[in-house]
Amino acid sequence: MRKQIAAANWKMNLSQQEASDLLTSLLGSLSNINDNQQVIFSVPSIYIPQALGQIQGKANVFIAAQNCHQKANGAFTGEISANMFASAGVKHIVIGHSERREYFGETDALLAEKVNAVLEISSTPIFCCGEPLAIREAGTQNAFVEAQLINALFHLTADQITQVVIAYEPIWAIGTGKTATSAQAQEIHAYIRSVLSSKYGQDIANQISILYGGSVKAANAIELFSQPDVDGGLVGGASLITSEFTAIINALQ
Ligand code: 13P
Repeated sequence: MRKQIAAANWKMNLSQQEASDLLTSLLGSLSNINDNQQVIFSVPSIYIPQALGQIQGKANVFIAAQNCHQKANGAFTGEISANMFASAGVKHIVIGHSERREYFGETDALLAEKVNAVLEISSTPIFCCGEPLAIREAGTQNAFVEAQLINALFHLTADQITQVVIAYEPIWAIGTGKTATSAQAQEIHAYIRSVLSSKYGQDIANQISILYGGSVKAANAIELFSQPDVDGGLVGGASLITSEFTAIINALQ
């Protein structure tokens, strides 16, 4: 059975003290996370050691990195590799967030390399896809997202693809307060699963968690997560507020 996942993406926010305080307060209000669920905190890399210390002993709670370099090591000043994160205890890495694609020029070809780097060391890529507003307005979002999946993921074997978590994040809904309706989310999530199924078969497609991201908040999480192909959320702004993210975790099915 695929996991239901509430993933926080703190992006480039919070001082060290604020990050520690927020995690303390979130963990304090967390009830037990059952084995079919996961809670993941994608924190700024510099805060990973302290965050790992804080979640010690919490079942089904993980710390993630927000990006990694595609190479294992070498002369790449300022970069951090998937291997380095794994050696520090972090085995989930967000790959291809739309902000990385937009502000840092990350292409599907590069993201394919990053996904490989993460899988090579048996870590979990949280692979982001999603269309900009113009594509949604033209009604071609399915083809757009399908191309992202084909270009960045479809070289993987069936075994490998089951290790990937997919996050569908329509760019027009990120940080805008504008959420996809639950019907819009379900429609494209079902489409993503059908694309996975046509390449890998229905059994494999059914094992892959597909998260929705884009202005998820306490007020819409239950409805979004109750859709059959929405397996949780990747949450930006609302993950910085204890009461909001706690309610989002509690909305997991
Ligand atoms: P918001 O929840 O702030 O819209 O951000 C979504 C996101 O980008 C998560 O990765």
